[in-house]
Amino acid sequence: MLRVAVLVSGGGTNLQAVIDAVKEGKITNTEIVGVISNKKDAYALERARNAGIPAQCVSPKDYETREQFNEALLAAVKAYQPDLVVLAGFLVILPELLIREYKNRMINIHPSLIPSFCGKGFYGLKVHEEVLARGCKVTGATVHFVDEGCDSGPILLQRAVAVEKDDTPEILQRRVMEQAEWQILPQAINLIANGKVEIKDGHAYAV
Ligand code: GRF
Repeated sequence: MLRVAVLVSGGGTNLQAVIDAVKEGKITNTEIVGVISNKKDAYALERARNAGIPAQCVSPKDYETREQFNEALLAAVKAYQPDLVVLAGFLVILPELLIREYKNRMINIHPSLIPSFCGKGFYGLKVHEEVLARGCKVTGATVHFVDEGCDSGPILLQRAVAVEKDDTPEILQRRVMEQAEWQILPQAINLIANGKVEIKDGHAYAV
């Protein structure tokens, strides 16, 4: 059984996709052992609790220094003894200790086809606004392993999504979620859980 901890900041629709996929048997060999949010009111926490998954908030607001928060976050993650950490809309600058501890064992979902529209400042609606501003005809989502850089780790899965003529950032965001994010995040976890991922020379492959 792959023990998975999920880190979230918001609505948690990607978390929900993973919860549902486990329930429906689309992800096998996997148990979601804990969900952590940096925001107390994140709806993702409620989704976790509704599914009977331990959920907690670790907020920077509850600590005097960033270092203390970083340590608390690392301790909270470690306490679940995860084999895999999944960042599903986790809007926190990751502590280096966490990145090092979970090297090749932590994945992130990003709502564009990396290396387009990624890196510093590209999160949430901003990504889709910029895709529309550039007049792109195709966008998508990426699941990648997390390294020290911003959206720079080995890419595991990507899926393309069409941009339509009258799209607003909100409409495009929704389409990218439905057609790409909610598909490839569960798929990536299932591949990892079943030993079907290889990382070689800084690249990840589904084998
Ligand atoms: C998603 O677009 C994800 O790609 C990005 O943050 C958003 C999270 O949405 N990293 P949700 O909380 O899963 O609904």
